Order: sequence, then structure tokens, then C-alpha cells
Amino acid sequence: MKPVINEFPSADGLWSGIRLATDAKVEGAIVVAQGAIRWVGARSALPAEFAGLKPHDGGGALVTPGLVDCHTHLVYGGQRANEFAMRLAGATYEEVAKAGGGIVSSVRATREADEDTLFAQAAPRLEQLLADGVCVIEIKSGYGLSLEHERKQLRVARRLGEAYGVTVRTTFLGAHALPPEYAGRSGDYIDLVCNEMLPALAAEGLVDAVDVFCERIAFSLAETEQVFKAAKALGLPVKLHAEQLSDMGGAALAARYGALSCDHIEHLSAEGIEAMRRSGTVAVLLPGAYYTLRDTHLPPIAALRAAGVPMAVSTDHNPGTSPALSLLLMVNMACTLFRLTVPEALDGVTVHAARALGLQDTHGAIAPGMPANFVLWNVREAAELAYWFGQQPVRAVVRQGRIAIGGNA
Ligand code: NIG
Ligand code: FE
Repeated sequence: MKPVINEFPSADGLWSGIRLATDAKVEGAIVVAQGAIRWVGARSALPAEFAGLKPHDGGGALVTPGLVDCHTHLVYGGQRANEFAMRLAGATYEEVAKAGGGIVSSVRATREADEDTLFAQAAPRLEQLLADGVCVIEIKSGYGLSLEHERKQLRVARRLGEAYGVTVRTTFLGAHALPPEYAGRSGDYIDLVCNEMLPALAAEGLVDAVDVFCERIAFSLAETEQVFKAAKALGLPVKLHAEQLSDMGGAALAARYGALSCDHIEHLSAEGIEAMRRSGTVAVLLPGAYYTLRDTHLPPIAALRAAGVPMAVSTDHNPGTSPALSLLLMVNMACTLFRLTVPEALDGVTVHAARALGLQDTHGAIAPGMPANFVLWNVREAAELAYWFGQQPVRAVVRQGRIAIGGNA
């Protein structure tokens, strides 16, 4: 596929006729130069030197930073609508997994697919997310579960970033599930993950962070720590699928390793929250998985808020528990299901999501020196981004300094 990014016009120039979500009452202005934010503020305060730059008229649109989807499993073979039906008939996620479905069924389909097939299947999903204003996306491996097939997934993730001009952060999730050929030999598989897969993939530049699914149906606390040690030895940051179905004490362990984020955390304990507060670890909330699994055990939002732990919101896009393709819908669900305030939910898909990827200095905000990533929305006020659901309010998207959507702005 030819890179679509080459067709996007440059966003360099003066953006006016916009209202910055941070101060929506007055006309705002953004100056983009060589693909980066040069200046941002009220139009009335624009320095004269920028007034003559190439104009881009926002038509009164509201502007936010480009959205950051900080937890996805976007690259996989096949789909699992059959499991949706099984769960509707009463089976739990754990029962489906034990019956040979679940993650392992996506592993089969992913192993059968070659790189081009995986790319072709993931590309339309990525396009959906991008149409919602996403400018940065994290993509995990974890459906290959062997060196060859994990490599294939991560290479596709990188290729998607290059083709679409979107910032992709790759996360190695080799410890997602036990592959069938290692049944009953969990320790051997974790040794393979730590001693062969991770070092090889890191050496190939395919790994930006390392994640583990720490859960009764996946890997133990001790196995999780073994993977974290291997990551640290390579200088790679860690994250964790923590306390989704039960309290395993994973968040406190992850915090000890300075984790960027702990994700899901429906069953997070007070000790886990305190450990995350101390280590500055981001709590990534995944309302799509909560909704799909018809979970009723809410993550401890009030306690996280009281502790000042930054909360991010993400799609967790995956074929099993969250086939979600709209980050804005997750914003709505984070408010409706988890009772986040609108500003919390919007921070959750921008500034805090960037932090969950270690990108807080370059993404998740509109600030001088950062690459130009921002979205023009056809709404009057920011609350509408959380209020409507199923709407498509994007007017234009500036991604990596180019006008990726709405090119005549
Ligand atoms: O984030 N929790 C583990 N991993 C995924 C589910 C993966 C799957 O079911 O395929 C998640 O929810
Ligand atoms: Fe996940």
C-alpha cells in the first residue's frame, strides 16, 4: 500500500477562526511552522510577526489536542463475534477462555495470517480510530506468542504508523496468554519471553514498552516480575494489565518497577492506588472492556481521584473484550459508566494518555515546540465531545504537522 501520508497537505501557517477548548469563549490562534507548534493563544494576542502567514480558517470550530489512544491490541487475525454470542448465552470471559476460545483463538488466526494480511485487516480499523481525531496510538503484540509471530504483529504496527503518518508506540505483550504448545509449562514460556523473544525484538527496534496480562487466567505475580526484570535489563519501560478480574497485587508490583501505567484496574486495592500515586503511574480506564464483559465491579475512581493518580481512557481495542473503534465513545462511557467528569475524560484521552506512553513532553497538548497534532471539532462546547455518542464531529485533523482530514481548511 502506498503511504497515505504523502497526500496530506502541510498544516504550516496561521490557524484562526478557532476556539481553543481551554478558553473557548474567545477566538484562538495556532501558528504551525515546519510541522511543529510555534505559538498558541488568543487571536488578539498574536504577535505581529505571524499575522501574514498562510491562513487556515477553522470556521468557528472548537480545538483540542490530537487524541491519544494509549491501549490497543489493533493488529490481529480474524474476529470473535462467536464468543460475543456465547457470552450473551451466559458464558463468562473466563469460561470462554477455558473452552479454547478467547485470546488463543485470535492467536490461531494471527499465526495463519501473513504480514500483508494483518496490515490489510488492521488498516480499516486504524482509519476508523483516526476519523475520530486520534493522532497517537499504542499497539500491543500478544496474539503471536512466538518470536516469529510477535515480530510480525509489531512490524505491522510500525508499518501502520509509517503509512498513515500517525505516531505508533509498540508494546511487547508476549506474556498475554500461554500458547497451546506450552500447555502446563508456563515457566518455560516465560523463560522464552524473557530470554529470547524480548531481547531479539528489542534489538530490532520493535519494542517501545513491555506489558504483561497478570491474572488468574494468564500469568502470576512472580511471572510478571520476571518479565519486568527482563524489560528493565534492556532499559524498556513497563505497563501492566492489572486487577481486571481479581486483585492480584499487580499494580503495586508494577509501581515498584516505575510502570508507565496500570490498565483495567477494576479490582485495584487501596495499597495499589497508594503505590501508583508514589510512582507516578497512570491509571488507564477501559470502559469498552467493562461494558462488553457486562462487568459490574467499578474501578475505584473516587479513590484514584482523591489520590491524584492521573487517569487515562482508552479503547482497549481487541477482538475479544472490546471491539471498540471510537475513542470518543469511550469518553462518553468513561463519564456515563465510570462517572468521570467531562474535563477528566478529555484529559484522559489527551494529556494523561500521552503520559501513559511516556510521551507527555511531546504529545497530548498544544504547546510550542510540540509536533502539531490537533483536532477541529464541529461543536460549540467541549462537553459535547462526551455528550453525543455515535456522532462524527471531526471537522479537521492536523496530524504530525499535516492536514490529515479536512484538507481544504
Ligand atoms: O485487554 N485482558 C487481556 N487482554 C485483552 C483481551 C484480549 C482478548 O480477549 O483477545 C484486554 O481486555
Ligand atoms: Fe488490553
